[in-house]
Amino acid sequence: MKSPSKGKEQKKILLAYSGGLDTSVAIHWLKQKYGCEVVAVTVDVGQSDDLKEAMRRAKAIGASRAWVIDAKKEFAEDYIIPALKANALYEGNYPLGTALARPLMVERLVTMARRLGADTIAHGCTGKGNDQVRFEVSIMALAPDITILAPTRDWNMSRDEEIEYAKEHDIPIPVTCEAPYSIDESVWSRAIECGVLEDPWQEPPEAIFEWTKGIESSPNAPEYVELGFCEGVPVSLNGVTMEPLELVTALNEIAGNHGVGRIDHIENRLVGIKSREVYEAPAAIVLTKAHQDIESLVMPKDLMHYKRAMEQHYANLVYDGLWFSPLRRAMDAFIEETQENVTGIVKIKLFKGSAVVVGRESAHSLYSTDLSTYEKSDEFDHSAAKGFIYVWGLPLKVAGVVNSTKNGNGVLNEIAVKEEYSSVCK
Ligand code: ARG
Repeated sequence: MKSPSKGKEQKKILLAYSGGLDTSVAIHWLKQKYGCEVVAVTVDVGQSDDLKEAMRRAKAIGASRAWVIDAKKEFAEDYIIPALKANALYEGNYPLGTALARPLMVERLVTMARRLGADTIAHGCTGKGNDQVRFEVSIMALAPDITILAPTRDWNMSRDEEIEYAKEHDIPIPVTCEAPYSIDESVWSRAIECGVLEDPWQEPPEAIFEWTKGIESSPNAPEYVELGFCEGVPVSLNGVTMEPLELVTALNEIAGNHGVGRIDHIENRLVGIKSREVYEAPAAIVLTKAHQDIESLVMPKDLMHYKRAMEQHYANLVYDGLWFSPLRRAMDAFIEETQENVTGIVKIKLFKGSAVVVGRESAHSLYSTDLSTYEKSDEFDHSAAKGFIYVWGLPLKVAGVVNSTKNGNGVLNEIAVKEEYSSVCK
């Protein structure tokens, strides 16, 4: 990889600034090492940090300019919604809030780099996480000419050494550095790592949770919510029409209040490490359940089964940083086609940490009471089942006969089997 251009051509390094310790130290370190201008850019995807304060800090440390780009609406509409249509849960658990936010951040960073004439983008990811991969692979896809720097990975300082470096160089340390946890937030999920959580046996302490109530303190009465979908997109909450961002934000609040959306996941990172991740994702969990459920009402069996298999692949691909791949675009095109009839309402009961779908309706429902009922009105032709089972089971029966012959079940058995075989083959 090229190092940033020197001398006359040298322009600016654009730093993906989170406001945390790593990227705060990085502003100073990059300026020292490369002697060039560092511009701090924070892409707002719904982190609850005080981003204005972060900007002030970036400038105080020495960034020539500091920007916050509000990308929450785009994040909800162009990243969360496709992932929801794909029911994307990594390893069946994690709704991918961090993984989805990285390609959007890169999109915005690259646009900014072009506008400001920066030839280098730096990020503050460490060398053992997934985010370094997501950042770099996305930059490679969108701006192959841009030089990438990963100072945190290169300088190899421990956290304490970083704090020491910050003190030595009068870098204001963000307050969050006192907390033993590493937090990453977007409107789709809040991820918590480090501290006691590194011991997979230790129950996550109540104090780490901010979006969800504990079961002990959540309401003692259940609450029902109705989610309206239109072609796979959630469009209303309890009958009130909402844009995706507004809906996700409101549902995080409602479901979080009932303790819904806590996830404790031993996760397989792309870089080969198993890590213990704790998430809060109330809206993501409720919406995914509801979306899967309405799909099962309106989708033909073969299409749904095929899509379910693809969903896992989709989640892996997003997790692994390949958002900007042709495969993801092709999968999205397929998934979009499957959403044509995914319109209707899902009723969910929230209570003491659980979100259970308890009702669903759609004008495109393929559910037929006339066929499913056990009452008199039943229209299913029971006699047709006999011939169907004969044909369906025939290959197994033939194999069964052949295998039991091979296994040598004795002369008597063999005679019986032969008789059976000839009757099968008649
Ligand atoms: N394990 C998740 C992922 O790779 C979340 C990572 C959160 N990052 C963090 N710096 N705490 O997508």
